[in-house]
Amino acid sequence: MSRILCVGIATLDIVNHVDEYPAEDSELRALSQSRRMGGNAANTAVLLSQLGHTVSWVGNLGPGGDIVEETFRQHQVDAAAAVRLTTGGIPTSYVTLSESTGSRSIVHHRDLPEYEADAFRELDLNRYDWVHFEGRAINHLEVMLDMVQRHPSLGTSLEVEKPRDGIEALFGKADVLLISYVYALSRGFEDATSILNSLPKGCLATCTWGAKGAWAVDEQRRVLYEPALHLDRIVDTLGAGDVFNAGLISALCRGQPLESALAGAVALASSKCTHEGVALGH
Ligand code: FRU
Repeated sequence: MSRILCVGIATLDIVNHVDEYPAEDSELRALSQSRRMGGNAANTAVLLSQLGHTVSWVGNLGPGGDIVEETFRQHQVDAAAAVRLTTGGIPTSYVTLSESTGSRSIVHHRDLPEYEADAFRELDLNRYDWVHFEGRAINHLEVMLDMVQRHPSLGTSLEVEKPRDGIEALFGKADVLLISYVYALSRGFEDATSILNSLPKGCLATCTWGAKGAWAVDEQRRVLYEPALHLDRIVDTLGAGDVFNAGLISALCRGQPLESALAGAVALASSKCTHEGVALGH
């Protein structure tokens, strides 16, 4: 069991299940709707806690974030050091989940400042074994990664999900890079192997590629592949990447080799798609 800190955002996700993704300028009745906490680092934190670790989350919370506080409480994620702002509001994702394809489309609305390095500076990093960062607010993230690097016993992971100006400069500052196909495609790579091969030697990284599964590269530049599980029915793919990240971090914290960490993370993310929400046991 490790002590893990997740740094990133927490959101309200309003999820509409529909038969098929709607055409523009059409009207459609949802099959069902759920409201739940989301956010990459927040989802990863919940899973890591369910996997048996002692987990904390920090980020900014705005008014209307009761669902976040409640979900963290329910899953024993310590959010005591989160910054509670009195202006703005909880970032909200309006999600359309298509039953025919299993895809999720997100319209995200945000009116909350990003979590700042000054708040991170107040934390006692000796309380943790591993820090996981969402790849956003690059100027603050860089300062935070530098602070973590001054604690050599701390493991670090950096999620590289979306293209963000300057994020590449941070690749050398984390122990593990968790890359998504969305980022890879945005940089002109057509497959996971090409982006992993483009990373500097000594870099440990993974690249998830939706229904295909995930690839990883180890310090010796060996590329590993783990196919996703075959699923008869896909219920909910929202947050599958966040679950993969939790599975991978958990296994690495337990000292597992990359190969089995990758296999376990893919299996966890695949089985997440068979039930609603990210938490296990639903
Ligand atoms: C899923 C997710 C959602 C959230 C969105 C934020 O990965 O974290 O829960 O609304 O992404 O980008």
